[in-house]
Amino acid sequence: MQFTVAIDGPAAAGKGTISREVAAHFGFAHLDTGLLYRAVGHRTLEAGRGVIDPVMAEELAKRLSPDDLDETKLRTPMVARAASRVAAMPEVRKALVAFQKDFARRKGGAVLDGRDIGTVICPEAEVKLFVTASNTVRAERRFQELIAKGTDTTIEQVLSDLEARDARDSERDTAPLAQAADALLLDTTELSIDAAVAEAVACIQKRIEQGRP
Ligand code: C5P
Repeated sequence: MQFTVAIDGPAAAGKGTISREVAAHFGFAHLDTGLLYRAVGHRTLEAGRGVIDPVMAEELAKRLSPDDLDETKLRTPMVARAASRVAAMPEVRKALVAFQKDFARRKGGAVLDGRDIGTVICPEAEVKLFVTASNTVRAERRFQELIAKGTDTTIEQVLSDLEARDARDSERDTAPLAQAADALLLDTTELSIDAAVAEAVACIQKRIEQGRP
């Protein structure tokens, strides 16, 4: 069975947790596509000793391997900034498209989360969700995550980083962050994670039943 769930939205809106839980519920494979851009950003920063060179970024995107996706190194504010800079480069995006498209249509079902899954990577996805939340709620969530990991930061810094990243992701020319016309909007500002997951599960279940003969 081929069945794709596309989950898009800005940073820290809850799409990662919702994607993981939904994938576990239905037994679908899950790809956090942000990790691909984070890995390219991280490797480009390392190779350029802090400087992001577009030619190098494209080369590294073409040669990305599963070993580069070790999450522990990639979940830092510096890597998030680098990710959104390389993500604005059309050549980098092009190098990562085929892998994501293949993953989306693999047998057994797939959940992909990112910024352009419902619009560019898999416009034919059976279910599309756009997960969002207010800027202050998203900043508070990300701040708590970073503090729990021992990162030295402030809520103001986190909010300003999120807003800068949202602006870069939404305003770029290639595959900007956008809600697909046929995506269901899930606003988690005042929704618990359990309630948001339950809503996503119900929506996917309904679509699976519609597809049954
Ligand atoms: O989702 P996450 O915060 O890990 O994504 C890091 C960055 O990768 C985003 O800010 C965005 O610039 C980029 N990205 C993207 N397209 C995707 C997933 C992530 O441009 N499908």
